[in-house]
Amino acid sequence: MKVLVVGGAGYIGSHVAKALMLKGHEVTVYDNLSTGQEINLFKQNRFIKGDILNYPALVEAMRGQDAVVHLAAKKAVGESMENPMLYSVNNISGSLNILNAMVECGAKYIVFSSSAAVYGMPEVSTIDENVPLNPINYYGFTKLEIEKFMGWYDRLKGIKFVALRYFNAVGYDADGDIRGKEINSQNLLPIMMEVVSGKRDKLKIFGNDYPTPDGTCIRDYIHVSDLASAHVLALEKLNQGMTSQSLNLGTEKGTSVLEMLRAVEKVVGRKLPAEFAPRRAGDPAILVASAAKARSLLGWKPQYLDVEKIVQTVYNIN
Ligand code: UFG
Repeated sequence: MKVLVVGGAGYIGSHVAKALMLKGHEVTVYDNLSTGQEINLFKQNRFIKGDILNYPALVEAMRGQDAVVHLAAKKAVGESMENPMLYSVNNISGSLNILNAMVECGAKYIVFSSSAAVYGMPEVSTIDENVPLNPINYYGFTKLEIEKFMGWYDRLKGIKFVALRYFNAVGYDADGDIRGKEINSQNLLPIMMEVVSGKRDKLKIFGNDYPTPDGTCIRDYIHVSDLASAHVLALEKLNQGMTSQSLNLGTEKGTSVLEMLRAVEKVVGRKLPAEFAPRRAGDPAILVASAAKARSLLGWKPQYLDVEKIVQTVYNIN
């Protein structure tokens, strides 16, 4: 298929573009390089530097494409609460531009990078797709609204979609083909790597009084190459006639902050300075995916189930 990967120079997008290329798809990356990096482009990818807010340029790139993978978005939860306008424009208006350009150019399928943030603070700890959708931050709200827009564009214009609700994306390409480290990530593992490199003097563990076995929060850390393979399968299933879907992507295995710290320490071979700090606002105690739907509908099976192996792929590029 001819696939436009919007946001394909970014952290997750670059892994998706590589996975699509390796499966023989014709990939064009469209990215404004605001957070994406040119060194992330897998060798044969065609690249257009462009913004999703530039509708004529987007239409130009869309011509002749069969499908879109859309990963261009603002994604900092805290920032989305302080500057919702940025998220309205980039995430919502930008996504509507993509859907409109698809209609204008006849592209039929879209795989969208959604997030577990659409669930908010769920009352259950293992989350399947039937859990109520109650985002508690503006970032999660934008992801949910885009899923709803895609539902309408399916009903009204026949565009089929798969929304992939990522749990905690981590890790890097194990072959070393994608070399750009994510810049300024506020997520746990990149922060731990800053402690490893000495850029940060210690890790602050947000909360040790959660109702979990060791008192620290539990998350479902899913390797970015496993996320990437799900995008390829989703596109191929849409092309074979699958109806539109929203699917969780996670390992179905929980790892606490302390367990992640131990895994990093094991990989780097030394203790890391860390201290307990107050809880961070808006953190649920436990978020673990049920990915049964993605497994059965896509035939998807994550390969990285061992956090130490995931950490190793991060350590290798640091
Ligand atoms: N944490 C620390 N110290 C830090 C950073 C994080 O203890 O310095 C803890 C957090 O409190 C949390 C865990 O590590 O318990 C993971 O935190 P991240 O910030 O890495 O990830 P989140 O689970 O908060 O958020 C992730 C994505 C969001 C997405 C959300 C959906 O980063 O984009 O999952 O559930 F919205």
